[in-house]
Amino acid sequence: MPQIKILNLVGARPQIIKASAISRAIRTGFAEHIKEVLVHTGQHYDKELSEIFFDELEIHKPDYNLGVGSAGHGKQTSMMITGIEEVLLKERPDCVIVYGDTNSTLAGSLAASKLHFPVIHIEAGLRSFNKTMPEELNRIMSDHASTLLFAPTNAAFKNLMNEGFRPENSPPYTINNPKIYLTGDIMYDNSLFFAGLANRKKRKFLSELALESDRFILTTIHRDANTDDVNRLKQILVTLRSLAEKTDITLVMPFHPRTIISLKSKLPDLYEELCDSDLIKIIPPVSFLEMILLEKNSRMIITDSGGVQKESHFFKKPCIILRKETEWIELVINGTSVLVDADPDRISTEFLRLIESHATLEYPAFYGNGKAAEFILNEIVLMFEK
Ligand code: UD1
Ligand code: UDP
Repeated sequence: MPQIKILNLVGARPQIIKASAISRAIRTGFAEHIKEVLVHTGQHYDKELSEIFFDELEIHKPDYNLGVGSAGHGKQTSMMITGIEEVLLKERPDCVIVYGDTNSTLAGSLAASKLHFPVIHIEAGLRSFNKTMPEELNRIMSDHASTLLFAPTNAAFKNLMNEGFRPENSPPYTINNPKIYLTGDIMYDNSLFFAGLANRKKRKFLSELALESDRFILTTIHRDANTDDVNRLKQILVTLRSLAEKTDITLVMPFHPRTIISLKSKLPDLYEELCDSDLIKIIPPVSFLEMILLEKNSRMIITDSGGVQKESHFFKKPCIILRKETEWIELVINGTSVLVDADPDRISTEFLRLIESHATLEYPAFYGNGKAAEFILNEIVLMFEK
């Protein structure tokens, strides 16, 4: 059988991390069958949102970097589509893998499906049921342009069925006859793989930040709904600062540049006060291994990130979600994550409750067996054998 050429498309931080699971599985088990062409749209370009992951997670440098950068949704997505189309016509891959729900995902799905290259969507079927989120539109459109859809959770698989996807479809699979799978989550694969490596850096990393295990709370904020709405951002941060003071616990905040830009431009006084506080540590984005260390050693996690919510579960930490809804609904049903929106009362109540109850919570295996990447690659190989 000739090698299958896969175009592996990344653009934003979490996609580079996700792609590392697929790249690793290709290297270790599928190198004979699969050739990977790695394409970076350039949606994320700062060293700490992009390059750092290539070095640390041992992913080879992108074969193409489209250098698209930041822009409004229309301009950014259209520049990506143009660039991806050119690469597709030059490389003529057998299929294109897209991850998650960013503008890079949407651009890849549209460019590839319109040129009739099969799209493989990893993290298919997730829904927040809130179409004001750009990610929700990106997910729905990408799913409906895909040929193989790999759902990470039961809820995601059910969402696809509810939208008319049929698990019983038989090959040959096409955009008109797509196949859906329940696979588990490749980010669970990654957490298992990288947790041991991260541990080697633990002592040095935590001591450099003057953090003690179980004596700090990890906080990330980057969603447009929180960063672009100055009232929400202020409400969240003022509430968290007062909770830190009340409980004498440190909050470590590796913030996305978007959050820092908003704080500096819209809330400069608050930003300065937070930087002056002994209990608040706003730091630049950290590497994935460092992030794992922060997650594993934190007492609790507060976030609006999809990836970080799940990692709270992988590392058995309660999680406060600074959103109205989540795609990872099993976490909320399980009671280990709670949705608080940006409501000061709810943030305070859940913070004070979860900080005490963390030892008694249970974390069932929602996200597969740590071998989702192998499962996915095996199905891709089977598709081209058939
Ligand atoms: C994007 C995704 C979001 C995902 C997140 C992961 C979309 C619509 N959103 O959000 O779903 O959760 O990535 O982190 O695709 N910026 C920098 N440096 C960079 C990149 C961005 O400073 O390297 C700043 C720019 O001011 C830019 C802003 O962040 O305008 C937003 O970047 P963008 O890529 O549009 O969206 P994210 O918020 O990163
Ligand atoms: N992450 C990281 N460093 C950071 C913040 C996040 O390595 O400073 C990782 C995190 O562990 C997770 C992923 O990036 O695997 C989540 O990305 P992000 O929160 O940007 O986006 P989302 O998952 O919400 O799309």
